[in-house]
Amino acid sequence: MEDKKLANYVVLEGMDGSGKSTQAKLLVDFLKENGFKVLHVTEPSKNPIGMFLSETILKGGFSSEATSLCFAADRIVHFEDVIKPAMREYDFIISDRSFYSSLVYQPLFGTRFDWVKEINRYAVKPDLTFLIDIPVEVFLERRGETDVIFEKEDFQKKVRQGYLGLVDKFKCDFVIIDGVKPVDVIHKEIRSKVVQL
Ligand code: TYD
Repeated sequence: MEDKKLANYVVLEGMDGSGKSTQAKLLVDFLKENGFKVLHVTEPSKNPIGMFLSETILKGGFSSEATSLCFAADRIVHFEDVIKPAMREYDFIISDRSFYSSLVYQPLFGTRFDWVKEINRYAVKPDLTFLIDIPVEVFLERRGETDVIFEKEDFQKKVRQGYLGLVDKFKCDFVIIDGVKPVDVIHKEIRSKVVQL
């Protein structure tokens, strides 16, 4: 029996408020309209560990190491239960975030980068990763007033540097997208790369 081609695994990464979710939805709709079978997923996932992360851990109170382990565990369970079976069933799997988010965010809370990398060694490498990059000034305009740590200016500056550092130091082959451009222009840039896969 001939093996069906594996789905293309496409990831959108970027700072909070960069427009990842909007672009993921537009991409999913575009691919579906063009007859492809598409699965849209997020990290943290919707499995019990992912829900615990979103509803409890991200609100604070857990050590950075425990949080890092939960993200890594969520990723492994999500891969086994959802991504792996979907690989043979779908043409595209589009994900908001991936292990790259852990490599950027968890060291900002004091966890050693190499250890975060180690506990994520089984994470699947995307076929294509977009980094939607916005300057912190644009993030601030979009954000408004907040007390949430993830939405503080200094923190987001470090997130941005973290992503750009991954590209520079670790030679991650991200496609960097200027997130300040209009939504439809960004969408066309993204889809033009995706259809080449
Ligand atoms: P998310 O639900 O994607 O929020 P947003 O829509 O703002 O991107 O992610 C929630 C937060 O979780 C986000 O601030 C980034 C953080 N996060 C990590 O710290 N590590 C990770 O591995 C992932 C996937 C997310």
